[in-house]
Amino acid sequence: MTSLQEKLQQTASYIQEKGVNEIEFGLILGSGLGELADEIEDAVKIAYSDIPYFPISTVEGHAGQLVYGTLAGRKVLAMQGRFHFYEGYPMESVTYPVRVMAALGIHSLIVTNAAGGVNKNFEPGNLMLINDHINFTGTNPLIGPNDNEMGPRFPDMSHAYTIEYQDVARAAAKKVGLNLREGVYMGFSGPTYETPAEIHMARTMGADAVGMSTVAEVIVAVHSGLKVLGVSCITNLAAGMQANLNHAEVVETTERVKEDFKFLVKETLQEL
Ligand code: HPA
Repeated sequence: MTSLQEKLQQTASYIQEKGVNEIEFGLILGSGLGELADEIEDAVKIAYSDIPYFPISTVEGHAGQLVYGTLAGRKVLAMQGRFHFYEGYPMESVTYPVRVMAALGIHSLIVTNAAGGVNKNFEPGNLMLINDHINFTGTNPLIGPNDNEMGPRFPDMSHAYTIEYQDVARAAAKKVGLNLREGVYMGFSGPTYETPAEIHMARTMGADAVGMSTVAEVIVAVHSGLKVLGVSCITNLAAGMQANLNHAEVVETTERVKEDFKFLVKETLQEL
């Protein structure tokens, strides 16, 4: 059987052969937020379906490709579409692209997502800087034997979201006059939206937003020694806080605030 290291090597070599080199930042673009990749200059695009050992994305609103090039003067490799646990992928597959980006030499990962607002002060359309997370998916991508060459057995999650990067994002938001919210992202497995009781629990436990992605990717990023910046787009108020929930609203809200989102990420990236 091919080991994870061998697979990563093959995947990374394939991507490098397409002209991807000197990457600084990995960028994972959440539901409805993929348009940012269209602003990447001198773009090299690689469909997930062409990449050895890459899973294939199934969710609406995701193009399913890597886009490499320059954004805000920085060399980035963006994922237009991610892999979710609720699609049936094991956590190893959900997080495989983060391992690949680490193997390709990124030093930082920017993760973005659509999320439900749990904090009563939030409104749909707000952007939230993620300052911490709660892994409520019921599993962990690092369960299993640990390869000490890839990272420690017991990673320290005390500063999973890099403090200096949070400072830069706050300053960037201030500079462009954007009301950037801030808080804790709680990751559920999905695919159901939460019940009102679960949202009550989430708030009681300290969550400000809930979603179905991100936590596993960030755990693997920390394991790989990467710096992390996280931004949520609050697309709706969470269950019990508004009449009902649907994916159409998530897409509509990201569509409405995508210019703010793109602006914030670019301004931040420029200063990181
Ligand atoms: N819950 C979980 N995931 C989400 C939500 C939500 O309310 N909105 C967008 N993604």
